[in-house]
Amino acid sequence: MAKSIDNRFFRDMVASMRNGVLAIARDGTVVVINAEAYRILGLRTDAGDPGRHFSDLLRDHPDLVRVMASAFELSTLPNRAELRLKTSGKVIGYTLALISDERARVRGAALLFKDLTLVEQAEERERLRDRLAALGEMAATIAHEVKNPLASIEVMAGLLRRQMADRADVQGLLSDIINEAKMANAIVLEVLEFVRPIRLQVDRTALSKVVEDAIVMAERKVPRRNTLIDVVVPRDLPTIQGDYHQLCQVVTNLLINALEALGGRGAVRIRAATRLSDEQDRAADIELRISDDGPGIPGEITDRIFNPFFTTKPQGSGLGLAIVRKIVDAHEGRIDVLSAPGTGTTFTIALPVEVPGRLGF
Ligand SMILES: Nc1ncnc2c1ncn2[C@@H]1O[C@H](COP(=O)(O)OP(=O)(O)OP(=O)(O)O)[C@@H](O)[C@H]1O
Ligand SMILES: [Mg+2]
Repeated sequence: MAKSIDNRFFRDMVASMRNGVLAIARDGTVVVINAEAYRILGLRTDAGDPGRHFSDLLRDHPDLVRVMASAFELSTLPNRAELRLKTSGKVIGYTLALISDERARVRGAALLFKDLTLVEQAEERERLRDRLAALGEMAATIAHEVKNPLASIEVMAGLLRRQMADRADVQGLLSDIINEAKMANAIVLEVLEFVRPIRLQVDRTALSKVVEDAIVMAERKVPRRNTLIDVVVPRDLPTIQGDYHQLCQVVTNLLINALEALGGRGAVRIRAATRLSDEQDRAADIELRISDDGPGIPGEITDRIFNPFFTTKPQGSGLGLAIVRKIVDAHEGRIDVLSAPGTGTTFTIALPVEVPGRLGF
C-alpha cells in the first residue's frame, strides 16, 4: 500500500473515532487531537493546535495535564481509569498508552478517552431508586404501626362522645379529634398505597374505555362546573397490555389536577394517537395527551412536581403525580410535562404497544 494512502487512512480513522484521542510526541508537543477530544474537553477546534505543548493546550484541565505528564514516568500506565474533570464536572474514562516504534523506542504517548457522564447519571438514578426503595420500606413500616393506634383513637373518641352526649362543650372537641384522626388515617392509607410495590394485573386494555371511566371518577372528586372536557380518543386504537385499574388511576389523577387548576372554568383536552417508536416500525407507542388551559406550572417547580409529597395545594397530599409516574414506569412508559405560566399545562404519556403483523419477525 502506498505510504500516502496509509497516512490518509490513519488520519481519517483517528478523526472518525468515537473516542477522544490525544497523542503527544516525546517532547510533549501535540501530534494528534481529534474532534471527539475537542468536544469532551470543551475546547474550540484549532488547526494550529498540533505542535503546541500539551500543557498549554490543556491549561484549563490541570488534572489531565498531570495524567499526560505521567506517561513517560510511570512503569505501568493506567488502563480504563476514571477521572472527573474539575472544570466541567465531566467524568471521563481513559487509557494511556506509550507509542513505540519497531525497535521499542518510545516516540510519544496517546490518551484515549470517553465521556462517562451519562453512564454516571444512570448509576446515580439506580442509587436513587435503591434509596427510595429503602425509604419506602421504612415509610410502610411506620404507616403500618401508626394505623392501629389511630383507629383506636377514633373508636375511643366515638365511645366518649356517646357517653358524654349531654356535654355540648366536650362534643365539639371530640368531633374534632375524630375528624383529625380520620384525616391522619387517610394520609397513612395513601402513603401505604404509594410505597407498596406495584403489581400489575396485565390485560388487553382499551385506552378509550380507560379515559371514559377516568372522567367519571375525576368528576366525582372535583366538580366540573363550567369546564369543557373535550375528548378525541379513537376507538380503533390498538389495545395495550396494561393494568386497567392502574391506568384509570393515572388518567384520573391527571384529570383531577387539571380540573383543580382550572377552578371550574376553561377546557381540558384529551387526545390519543399511535406513534411508531423505532426505525424498523416494529414497535409503537400510544401517546396520550391531557392538556388544560389553566394557570400553568411555574418553571422553578416543574422539576419537583413528581416528587412524593410535593404539593402547592392546602389540602393536597402531593402523591397524585408520584403515583402517576410509578404506574407509568411499571408499564415501561414515559411521562413528560410541558407547561408555561399563562398558557396551560400538557402531560404526555407514551405507553408501548405491539404492532400486530410487524412483530414476530
Ligand atoms: N394541570 C396542572 N396545572 C397546574 N399545576 C399543576 C397541574 N398538575 C400538577 N400541578 C402542580 O403539581 C403539584 C403536584 O401535583 P400532585 O398531583 O402530585 O399533588 P397535588 O395535586 O398537590 O395533591 P394530590 O394529588 O395528592 O391531592 C400540584 O400541587 C400543582 O402545583
Ligand atoms: Mg393531584
